[in-house]
Amino acid sequence: MNDAPIGIFDSGVGGLTVARAIRAQLPRESFVYIGDTAHSPYGPKPIADVRRYALEVLDTLVEQGVKMLVIACNTASAAMLRDARERYDVPVVEVIGPAVRRAMSTTRNGRIGVIGTVGTIASRAYQDMLEVNERLEVFAAACPRFVEFVEAGITDSPELLAIAEEYLAPLREADVDTLVLGCTHYPFLRGAIGYVMGEGVTLVSSDDETAADVYRQLLRGELLADRHAEPSYVYEATGVSADDFTALANRLMGREVRDVQLVQTGVIDLPAAARLQD
Ligand code: DGL
Repeated sequence: MNDAPIGIFDSGVGGLTVARAIRAQLPRESFVYIGDTAHSPYGPKPIADVRRYALEVLDTLVEQGVKMLVIACNTASAAMLRDARERYDVPVVEVIGPAVRRAMSTTRNGRIGVIGTVGTIASRAYQDMLEVNERLEVFAAACPRFVEFVEAGITDSPELLAIAEEYLAPLREADVDTLVLGCTHYPFLRGAIGYVMGEGVTLVSSDDETAADVYRQLLRGELLADRHAEPSYVYEATGVSADDFTALANRLMGREVRDVQLVQTGVIDLPAAARLQD
């Protein structure tokens, strides 16, 4: 048993989709969520920068005493999963593997589409994992402006729909029957993406699958919270305004997110080895 919180992070509000699924599947678990809004968006940035920002956020979460880290961001998962697993002595869960497994078991015609940020698609993380199965054909497309819309709180405008038509046209032409939403911001755009792809295409996102992975790893590590535990949810952002983050999160999620605190990352300067011995 371990009542310490789970640490969850994303560049912004996208990872809240994963936090919501964890909350629904594991109602006894507490978490600390950090939106790295000071460095958002991660998608168009060089991989080395994303890696540094993401490790700084994870360091901050570890300093706050979390029992597990959840990288609720595909771009960061693609950039630094291995580093994170080596650096920390708490389990690290990411979002790409769970979505890949779900897509593999969902497709009927073996044609899978993947959409994500420029960083995620260029890393080929999804393509490489899916193509291990030689019967699968993978069609990937970067959708750079989707995150911008979500971070502006826009999930249903005509302009968004027009851009979705443009980004998704090659995947429709490729006749995919399964589309992986390879960015944790995209579940907020399910309506528009689903509408453009049509009813025959199943949308796969990492939120529920990742929450199931969190459960498995907590169980395996004997880290589940006590069944009488009262959960607490802490939300933090690294940008200039906690109010902006709260307003956006509330707009997208209902009134779930309250009392967002500002936090500064990158201030912890201990070598990893020293930190792990604490
Ligand atoms: N939500 C993130 C992802 O899953 C990152 C989006 C961004 O910051 O560009 O990739």
